[in-house]
Amino acid sequence: MKKITIAIDGFSSTGKSTLAKQLAATLGYVYVDTGAMYRAVAYFAMQHNLVSETHLDKAGLIAQLPNINLRFQFNPALGFAEMYLNNENIERQIRTIEVSRMVSKVAEISEVRAKLVEQQQEMGKDRGVVMDGRDIGTVVFPDAELKLFMTASSKTRAQRRFDELVEKGQHITYEDVLQNVEERDYIDTHRADSPLVKAEDAVEVDNSSLSKKEQFELVLNLVKAKL
Ligand code: C5P
Repeated sequence: MKKITIAIDGFSSTGKSTLAKQLAATLGYVYVDTGAMYRAVAYFAMQHNLVSETHLDKAGLIAQLPNINLRFQFNPALGFAEMYLNNENIERQIRTIEVSRMVSKVAEISEVRAKLVEQQQEMGKDRGVVMDGRDIGTVVFPDAELKLFMTASSKTRAQRRFDELVEKGQHITYEDVLQNVEERDYIDTHRADSPLVKAEDAVEVDNSSLSKKEQFELVLNLVKAKL
């Protein structure tokens, strides 16, 4: 059967990765979580003291880029690929609120984006891929056969992210999560390089009042129309 590229973009915590994982499993496609790659670079910056409360040493991070080796490795027990930074599994470390606070600042740096976009294009070059992020339909794969743009109200999104983090045992408040979601959305939509914007030919999916099942069925029909 024909293999296509599915690009899923949208605001933070709109359920992009849940949907992308479901689609990839159903279609037998590769799932690529590009947010994990930006998070890994942010984590690297934190590990190498390139970050303080108020400052990110951009020049220092750019100089270190050749030393950042990212790869995904499929974990059969989990059913998805985990993120490795220089051969260390950092899947858990990149999901903390500390990394979430820093990641959008790191993602503003053009040199970081260029490196990650090149790797993403390589991973998707044979199609049969579901990739989620902020610039997949606009920059990484502008020729993707199906582009989705996911939205939901910021309160709905913060509640979902809050529930997820609490389940993982993290100690945070709902207000912290809401503030982080809104801050990231602001930076992601206002940055100069590859801002988060709906591609002209993307289908907008507002899932504020859709169940996961309803959303999946809706999107699967869009996919089938492209095959
Ligand atoms: O998808 P996730 O919320 O994990 O992404 C974390 C951050 O990484 C986003 O808020 C954004 O700043 C950045 N990002 C990006 N471009 C992508 C994917 C993520 O700028 N394609």
